[in-house]
Amino acid sequence: MPKFYITTPIYYPSGKFHIGTAYTTVLADTIKKYKQARGYDVYLLTGTDEHGQKIQKVAEERGKTPQEHVDEMADEAKKLWKLMEIDYDDFIRTTEPRHEKVVEEIFDRLMEQGDIYKSEYEGWYCIPCETFFTETQLVDGKCPDCGREVKKMKEESYFFNMKKYADRLIKFYQENPNFILPESRKNELFNNFLKPGLEDLCVSRTSFDWGIKVRKDPKHVVYVWLDALTNYITALGYLSDDDSLMKKYWPADVHLVGKDIIRFHGLYWPIFLMALDLPLPKQIYAHSWIMMKDGKMSKSKGNVIYPEQLIERYGLDSLKYFLLREMPYGQDGTFTPEAFVERFNYDLCNDLGNLLNRTIGMVNKYFEGKIKEYSNPQSMIGDNVNLAELNKEIEKFSDGTIHEVENLLDTYHMSNAIAQTWELISRTNKYIDETAPWVLFKEGKLEELQSVMYHLVENLRRIAILIAPYMTHTSKNILEQLNIPQELQTWDSLQEYTKLNNIKVTEKPEVLFARLDAETEIETIKNMMK
Ligand code: MSP
Repeated sequence: MPKFYITTPIYYPSGKFHIGTAYTTVLADTIKKYKQARGYDVYLLTGTDEHGQKIQKVAEERGKTPQEHVDEMADEAKKLWKLMEIDYDDFIRTTEPRHEKVVEEIFDRLMEQGDIYKSEYEGWYCIPCETFFTETQLVDGKCPDCGREVKKMKEESYFFNMKKYADRLIKFYQENPNFILPESRKNELFNNFLKPGLEDLCVSRTSFDWGIKVRKDPKHVVYVWLDALTNYITALGYLSDDDSLMKKYWPADVHLVGKDIIRFHGLYWPIFLMALDLPLPKQIYAHSWIMMKDGKMSKSKGNVIYPEQLIERYGLDSLKYFLLREMPYGQDGTFTPEAFVERFNYDLCNDLGNLLNRTIGMVNKYFEGKIKEYSNPQSMIGDNVNLAELNKEIEKFSDGTIHEVENLLDTYHMSNAIAQTWELISRTNKYIDETAPWVLFKEGKLEELQSVMYHLVENLRRIAILIAPYMTHTSKNILEQLNIPQELQTWDSLQEYTKLNNIKVTEKPEVLFARLDAETEIETIKNMMK
């Protein structure tokens, strides 16, 4: 079985996760489910990034010890992923001994081999981003990444010799043009950071102590990004007694990250790996951000929305659908209550829900719920429509959608893949208008009518399989209502259009998504955000 190792970033457990933070994990889980459907043995890693000044500060503000704080928050994170049905294989916490021990060891090694040296750091530090900046990198004296206040820092520090590896990394980028996706992010990293020359990186701190201590110099704690990035290998048992997962899954097939942390993953992480003499990940995919109308989601702006709130009222599938659909490839997406309700009512309720209900209603009305084998009668129907030709066109459209969706999912064009699937839904709805089944019934053209019903049910079967990676419940519900046998519920079964035989759909169609009263629900969501 081919292997596929996929990771999310490990999250700072500094507060409750909002829908933006949940995005990376929803995306990772969707890719996992898709890859599994395509026959891969997938390993999905997530976790929490629990050290550093930011966590120490938040814990103090809450009147807790850092350990109490991160224990609580890691539990919260796991609860949320359970609610969101995230099927991770491991959840790593950077305060676990299995991680800390190996980070200590790695730091030692890098010191021994001369990649890490002692010096003094003088410059600026952004605590929320846990990032060092020089004077010239600041924008109006603030953090160039998040715009917040930075702190002046002067302390004895260890440095990692980035310069030593920079040329090798440049060469790697040139030889692996798809290493970083989307391309625009790669170009940004390459042109703005790598080509002008990397600075050595400060990799230890002394002014606080919530971190992994440097074994040979314990007044230093390991810089939180060096600590955090290694989670992708410590979780696999690197340098431990049992490194079987490391042997099986490394290098990662893809690290999924938000655009804000691509620099750490695209520059520092590959260099750390080179220094450890390990192969580099095959790909790093940096997605954009879910924004609000007034910019970034933040508690201080009062525009935050949490996944639990939306799931409780509208269900998990609609939230996943919205998040993945609304984030265009390489560009930010926007959450507005209006857009959420609109997508729910139009895409889910009208387009998909009605297609299923109409189809089941007609199959019951005209054929007591039964679909026989594939047929494509040579007949002219309605207003000079050649049914056989129309059916061939529908079949071709349906096949084309599957190939297109596969290509798009393979390259992480999630929103496009969903849009393409909805094209098939629209095309199938239009097919009902073009064939006017009620007229065929009135005219007694039962053979033609049976063929039309076959095509509707077959397309719905295919749609249900295509949406399964992110709308698991809806997919299952459709396949159950149509009574599709197990062997025709697999991704492999998408290849054939003519396999349906003796299907008996449910007598009582169940509504997939009940239409929302737009005004009321927009108001409800606005209140959730307060
Ligand atoms: N702890 C680091 C990652 C270390 S990985 C070795 C971190 N944590 S985070 O909690 O701040 O962010 C976790 C993920 O959430 C990141 O990929 C980040 O880009 C993503 N998002 C945070 N807000 C987001 C949106 N509004 N929209 C989409 N993703 C967002 O960074």
